[in-house]
Amino acid sequence: MAPLIFLTRRIPAEARTLLDQAATVRAWDHEEPPVPRPDLLQGVADANGLYCLLTDAVDEELLRAAPRLRVVSTMAVGYDHIDVAACTRRGIPVCNTPGVLTESTADLAFALLMAAARRLPEAERTLRQGRWQTWSPLFLAGQDVHGKTLGIIGAGRIGQAVGARARGFGMEVLYTARSSKPAFEAACQARRCADLDELLAASDFVSVHAPLTTETRHMIGERQLRRMKPTAILINTARGPLVDEAALRRALHEGWIWAAGLDVFEREPLPTDHPLLQLPNVVALPHIGSASVATRTAMATLAAENLLAVLAGRTPAHCVNPETLSR
Ligand code: DGY
Repeated sequence: MAPLIFLTRRIPAEARTLLDQAATVRAWDHEEPPVPRPDLLQGVADANGLYCLLTDAVDEELLRAAPRLRVVSTMAVGYDHIDVAACTRRGIPVCNTPGVLTESTADLAFALLMAAARRLPEAERTLRQGRWQTWSPLFLAGQDVHGKTLGIIGAGRIGQAVGARARGFGMEVLYTARSSKPAFEAACQARRCADLDELLAASDFVSVHAPLTTETRHMIGERQLRRMKPTAILINTARGPLVDEAALRRALHEGWIWAAGLDVFEREPLPTDHPLLQLPNVVALPHIGSASVATRTAMATLAAENLLAVLAGRTPAHCVNPETLSR
């Protein structure tokens, strides 16, 4: 009998076809809103596979409601929405989609960096609102990008791809990571800092690329922001809770740092009355780091392939708890 998959959102047609060819698919077939929790719990009740997004919490409650579940596959590289330890205890592989979104996410991080440095959204608002009166020496003057120093927190795939872009702008590249990255150092003349404090003090731009874990939550708080230069710009395209937003708001309001470019937030979607949105020196985007048609299609397809591989007894391309595969 074909396995049963619960799919938590409408996905690109190519990926949906793959699932339909190999399984019976029960879907929350909408672009939005996300699947309501009761529908999710009901949907997984007899499912063998769960195809989910980063908006779906996969926790003990869900796993208890899904006694036949054999695989969880998320259409994301980040899997902080999944209780991996709970899945592992049950022998359930958890699959994700690294690699295919690296370049698109790095493009977006660099776009945010440029936009925040040169005040692009503020400049466009000024023009559209008829507030462009004349050319003037310091009118909408921002910070240069070329020749400056970029500090990358977490030099994994995406962090390194941002570093490669920075080299094209003649930037000096610093990084922190658990281990040194000789290939990255050679390719980008990148230098590993002794610690985060050194990186923060030396960088004109700080771009966060760490995974969200209990250790990294609020890794950028008041103490870290106060170590940055008053002209520095913080970029976050990774996960919102890596940054303490209350501290960031004060840092931006009181001028401890110059600006921030944010694609991710502690609470998503960001409410329109959020204090960060009151600040002119914040460039804010709605978590679109990987949102190109080609990349989102590749992510959706990879998530489908991972899921189907596990259900067919094959090794998936990406599994974050591979110890479950040998059981
Ligand atoms: C991910 O994959 O984790 C991103 O946040 C969405 O592209």
